[in-house]
Amino acid sequence: MLAEPAAGGFDHNVADCMSENVVGVHALPLGLCLNLLVDGTERVAPMAIEESSVVAASSNAARLARDGGGFQVETTGSVMATQIQINGLADPEAACRKIASEAPSLIEAANALVPNMVRRGGGAREIETRVVKPPKDAGPAMLCVHVHVDCLDAMGANLLNTIAEGLAPRIRAITGGDIGLRILTNYADRRLVRVSCRVTPESLRNDAWPDGGIVRDRIVNASRFAEADPYRAVTHNKGFMNGLDAVLLATGQDWRAAEAAAHAYASRTGIYGPLATWRTDSGGFLEGRAELPLAVGTVGGAARAHPGVRLALSLGKVKDASDLAGLSAAVGLASNLAALKALATEGIQRGHMALHARTLAVEAGASGDLVHEVSRRLQAEGCFRLERAQELVAAARK
Ligand code: MEV
Repeated sequence: MLAEPAAGGFDHNVADCMSENVVGVHALPLGLCLNLLVDGTERVAPMAIEESSVVAASSNAARLARDGGGFQVETTGSVMATQIQINGLADPEAACRKIASEAPSLIEAANALVPNMVRRGGGAREIETRVVKPPKDAGPAMLCVHVHVDCLDAMGANLLNTIAEGLAPRIRAITGGDIGLRILTNYADRRLVRVSCRVTPESLRNDAWPDGGIVRDRIVNASRFAEADPYRAVTHNKGFMNGLDAVLLATGQDWRAAEAAAHAYASRTGIYGPLATWRTDSGGFLEGRAELPLAVGTVGGAARAHPGVRLALSLGKVKDASDLAGLSAAVGLASNLAALKALATEGIQRGHMALHARTLAVEAGASGDLVHEVSRRLQAEGCFRLERAQELVAAARK
């Protein structure tokens, strides 16, 4: 049975409808990324994440970017594709030609399946055919029909799957083949988000690193490391996704779809690389750029039934799906910058251990001011053990 229905503002009846075998509600801290200037507008971004330091680090990095003019974002629209797989064709190329000649009527049929979307101005835009050849000896070639659909402010999964399933009988009639899978592709390579920012060398300096130019150069070097080494690129991208996923989670998005697409995009040259790269621009600024597919929605979707999601969307003053994609990508670039700056200078452990000490204090039973007192003592002693935290809590209570 569900215990407290209030967790995260979430009603247990809603939870029960959203999933199966529901026994409770799993809550996460909801924080705000501050200091964000996105396309000249002051923003805050809601972030749900269990990893301490990501929210604070992203907010700090957003402040650095603000000094250089903030984040610039753009999106390439909201077209996504759904796939219909056709097997058993003697001549897949000939089937491609037949489908191409029927494209206008197929688009019409696809649109008839999603009248509400068409009424709002979206819908099917293009029919594409691809002959997909498995690697040598791994089976015969197959035909794959892509229906490209403008999903507007919807993430689009239901819409795209409806079209794939609804159109399949016509595709079978045209080609004479056997229909295989009918499902969207999460590789949303026509729904890209781009984000960039510039950081002055002065904002990168601190007492321990008084020359901001050196910090900038070390961040560029860290980027080059990720560009040259997939082992490093994965961790570099993890730092980027720390920020981006936290916004997606807070706003009820399908972050697994975003993750799958982002990593496929990071491999598009055949070698896995970083989603965000950093360079020195002609004026000596540190300049960061990222580009990735990002399918998010602000209408429809089960998550909109979640009051916490509605709150997060309103806290972030999210206007539409494209706005949410830009905001999330800006936080991704901020969290990547924060990680690289720490790694290129003092390392991340000092900051992490400070937050770890706080968690230990809470685990040991401290609350209120005692959390800070115990965590301060643990850091001063350089001892990050739960037993020591428990001793300190017990001593304070005597
Ligand atoms: C930890 O969650 C993320 C980092 O590992 C990212 C990075 O190495 O760039 C610090």
